Amino acid sequence: MEIQRVGVVGAGTMGNGIAHVFARGGYSVVLCDVEQKFLERALGTIGKNLEREAAKGKVTADEKAAALGRIQPVKDRGKLADCDFVIEAATEKFEIKTEIFRDLDRLTRPEIVLASNTSSISITKLGALTKRPEKVIGMHFFNPVPVMKLVEVIRGLATSQETFTAVRDLAVKLEKTPVEVNDAPGFVSNRVLMPMLNEAMYAVMEGVARPEAVDEVFKLGMAHPMGPLTLADFIGLDVCLDIMRVMQGGLGDPKYRPCPLLIKMVDAGWLGRKSGRGFYKY
Ligand SMILES: NC(=O)c1ccc[n+]([C@@H]2O[C@H](COP(=O)([O-])OP(=O)(O)OC[C@H]3O[C@@H](n4cnc5c(N)ncnc54)[C@H](O)[C@@H]3O)[C@@H](O)[C@H]2O)c1
Repeated sequence: MEIQRVGVVGAGTMGNGIAHVFARGGYSVVLCDVEQKFLERALGTIGKNLEREAAKGKVTADEKAAALGRIQPVKDRGKLADCDFVIEAATEKFEIKTEIFRDLDRLTRPEIVLASNTSSISITKLGALTKRPEKVIGMHFFNPVPVMKLVEVIRGLATSQETFTAVRDLAVKLEKTPVEVNDAPGFVSNRVLMPMLNEAMYAVMEGVARPEAVDEVFKLGMAHPMGPLTLADFIGLDVCLDIMRVMQGGLGDPKYRPCPLLIKMVDAGWLGRKSGRGFYKY
């Protein structure tokens, strides 16, 4: 089935980026969130990001206007009924995603694929909420979506080969590079990345080095574009903690124990860049 009309549920950081790349790729996009102000903020962000791409010569002024014109912001989820593919990028809470997946299963055509951009929730569990687990898959974009090339394509236990192929091809059409991964807590990206960030936090907590020094080691010694603590602040320390807890619970190995300093900072409301304070002050 040819995909023309794409539904995006959740218009936050990731949802607006996903809507951006689909609209830029020529798809018509129905962007759904719970409040008008979130939709307006998303359209504002997409407009600014397209402007930046236009300034760099990546898109023309006409293409920018056309891409924006292809995005229909909606509060009413019923407007997703005639979509050919839906990707969920709502808040990372299982109860929220449960309600969304049950509803999407009820209101969209049974043959369409339902994807999730979740960073850590089990695709197998999301699939089991629906009557079409073979058509449920993870399509994990990276932030900022218009810039980052990678898409982890995650097979749940029941995901069919047909669904996998369709989503892999879709990622390629968006000029992304799909990488195949099986469903497991943290997938590959966070399973490997988060323990490294967590270990960098232990190094700070134990007085091995200051955050600046830890980050410098990674930038200069390993050619990372940013150090692990700058990256943790960028991702959000609450998000890092949630992901560590998902891996600790799901994999059961003590090596995934979140760093006590991370827990304390989240308790203090130091969530990184978005709260103005994390390992650094913003
Ligand atoms: N931020 C990242 O770096 C990143 C990277 C990869 C994947 N993810 C994943 O992407 C998803 C979204 O993360 P985000 O960072 O964009 O979060 P965010 O908080 O910026 O945005 C979430 C949006 O979902 C909306 N929402 C909540 N409940 C909804 C509902 N019932 N229906 C429609 N919309 C609803 C919220 O209003 C909000 O606008 C999460 O699953 C997260 O794990 C995030």
